[in-house]
Amino acid sequence: MIGKIIGTGSCVPARVIDNNEMATIVETSDEWIKERTGIRSRCISESETTTSMAVEAAKKALEDAKINAKDIDMIIVSTLTANSAMPTTAALVQKEIGATKACCFDLNSACSGFIFGYNTAIAYINAGIYNNILVVGSECLSNIVDWTDRRSCILFGDGAGAAVVSSKYGGNNQVAGYSDGAKGSALTCAGIKDKNVDASEHHQFIEMDGQEVFKFAVRRVPEIINEVVSKAGLELKDVAMYVLHQANYRIIESVAKRLGEDIEKFPTNMQKYGNTSSASIPILLDELNRAGKLKCGDKIVMAGFGGGLSWGAAVLEW
Ligand code: COA
Repeated sequence: MIGKIIGTGSCVPARVIDNNEMATIVETSDEWIKERTGIRSRCISESETTTSMAVEAAKKALEDAKINAKDIDMIIVSTLTANSAMPTTAALVQKEIGATKACCFDLNSACSGFIFGYNTAIAYINAGIYNNILVVGSECLSNIVDWTDRRSCILFGDGAGAAVVSSKYGGNNQVAGYSDGAKGSALTCAGIKDKNVDASEHHQFIEMDGQEVFKFAVRRVPEIINEVVSKAGLELKDVAMYVLHQANYRIIESVAKRLGEDIEKFPTNMQKYGNTSSASIPILLDELNRAGKLKCGDKIVMAGFGGGLSWGAAVLEW
């Protein structure tokens, strides 16, 4: 399938909370968090919002792609923490960047959201409907984190990442995505309160069965990576880099081991940002891009997993 990422951008809040500061909020320690997750700090919004970070990341991606906002045909924003249900975050991004021609919508598939957004962009491009699609992942998870729950609040951070996908260039793309709604209770957050639900029953914060999510990720992510790589007619040894959702270093280590791939091929930045849900993959992609670590023609695998439960992957040529 055709389509290529021609520009990336990202934005994280200025305020950094390290593990020692987390230990002043809940009963935990730098040592415990580092050992179990790899995370050392996270950026937490003060004045930044899901929309403002999405706009900033989008502007940087357009600049990097050297494309005019008026040439963007579609904007997909993946988020589970939109500032408003209407207008959509994508429409707000459109307004701020001046992408007057674009069809805009939000998509929510939790931490798989950026991949599902990217896969949707590839599908539109290969159907011949659109040429230039802006895909953004933006999250303000600090708004939905239970700051009294040490099992979950230490994991998450805020941020946004964006990529421009274009039809003008070739590339050997393959995509895949799955959901398992029957296991959805392992990772939940209620969202808008139903009028019939008692306030005490409304679970407005993230609730997670950490071990269940861990087991799900280390099983499903290698499976789907093998699937897309083989669909692309490639072998794992042909993959230059695996850009995975940054939830936990131990998950990434375990995926690398199960694939029999060198951990060096799995760049990470959860150390600095924690788990930023649908923003984590495009933030990492942008850091790698700007550091010149992605070479033209490199085969890259992206893979996300999380709430739903859901998981998705894509092979692309840089
Ligand atoms: N600081 C100190 N101790 C903590 C703690 C914290 N932040 N969080 C939990 N603990 C304690 C528990 O209370 C428990 O103590 P106990 O044995 O006295 O009851 C002990 O540590 C072990 O807890 P457990 O939940 O079994 O830890 P774990 O090894 O499963 O690690 C996670 C917890 C969350 C780090 C791990 O399950 C994980 O990473 N899961 C995946 C989560 C994820 O990535 N979610 C997002 C996916 S998109």
